[in-house]
Amino acid sequence: MAAKTHGMVAVRRTPETAQAQALGLAALVQARAAAAPASVSAEPVIRAERLTIRYGEFAAVREVSLDIPTKQVTAIIGPSGCGKSTLLRAMNRMNDFIERTSVSGRLLYQGRDIYGPGWDAVELRRRIGMVFQRPNPFPKSIFKNVAWGPMINGYRGHLAELVEQSLRKAALWEEVKDKLNQSALALSGGQQQRLCIARAIAMQPEVLLMDEPCSSLDPIATRHIEDLIDQLKAQYTVVLVTHNMQQAARVSDRTAFLYMGELVEVGDTSRMFTTPDNPRTQDYITGRFG
Ligand SMILES: Nc1ncnc2c1ncn2[C@@H]1O[C@H](COP(=O)(O)OP(=O)(O)OP(=O)(O)O)[C@@H](O)[C@H]1O
Ligand SMILES: [Mg+2]
Repeated sequence: MAAKTHGMVAVRRTPETAQAQALGLAALVQARAAAAPASVSAEPVIRAERLTIRYGEFAAVREVSLDIPTKQVTAIIGPSGCGKSTLLRAMNRMNDFIERTSVSGRLLYQGRDIYGPGWDAVELRRRIGMVFQRPNPFPKSIFKNVAWGPMINGYRGHLAELVEQSLRKAALWEEVKDKLNQSALALSGGQQQRLCIARAIAMQPEVLLMDEPCSSLDPIATRHIEDLIDQLKAQYTVVLVTHNMQQAARVSDRTAFLYMGELVEVGDTSRMFTTPDNPRTQDYITGRFG
């Protein structure tokens, strides 16, 4: 079988190809499924219904329908330029800052249209926080990086406690507790990224959007962040954009595969990485393109 699909050669699907074995993906998802079986009853906290996102005339995301279940990690994978960041940024309206973007279809957060008249974008971003590809701490102290958002939002609780809790949840407290007044810029890249996660957590969000949060980190720092993501889902819903198949296999419960702006397939990560339905998914996860 060699049908042309979107410029790629579709291949016969096998339960698990030699390449997938070589990448160790099946072993990773099996280990993960055994350690933490995904909850089957999770309700979607975010739902896209035939969502199209345009830059001017160009539709970077086309007719995507996708559920993000609560308190799970959903990975969004796909080749460069397929619309992963565009889709992620729509979820807390960060695309509003980019000129000439428009949205059609619906994107719901807790059943309410994110782009409808009811949502204040600032409040939405408090509930749906974001961590970027490159750690971007403010040029301020470690303490102020975490305290700043709650402070300007009129937080009335005990600020030092909130900072400590947030740093603990981001698995950074032990490393920084004696130097909270030092500049955040003096931290290592991996520590800075955990600080950015602490900063997002301090706003007490419900959802954390992460756009390739490990792409500028070394393997040890990456492992730290991956462990952290695994722990965060006890309390938060995480949507993780990643180029790294092993990372998606290690940390996500569900995986969505985007290609040229379209959602090709979404499902439990263990199934997506062993027996995907679509030959294009199989091609991508086994490294035939992208
Ligand atoms: N500000 C913009 N203006 C116009 N087009 C854009 C803009 N940002 C992204 N695009 C286009 O939209 C498409 C999707 O881009 P996006 O950044 O969402 O892809 P991606 O999957 O995140 O890619 P990568 O893996 O390289 O980060 C691409 O064709 C890109 O060129
Ligand atoms: Mg991107």
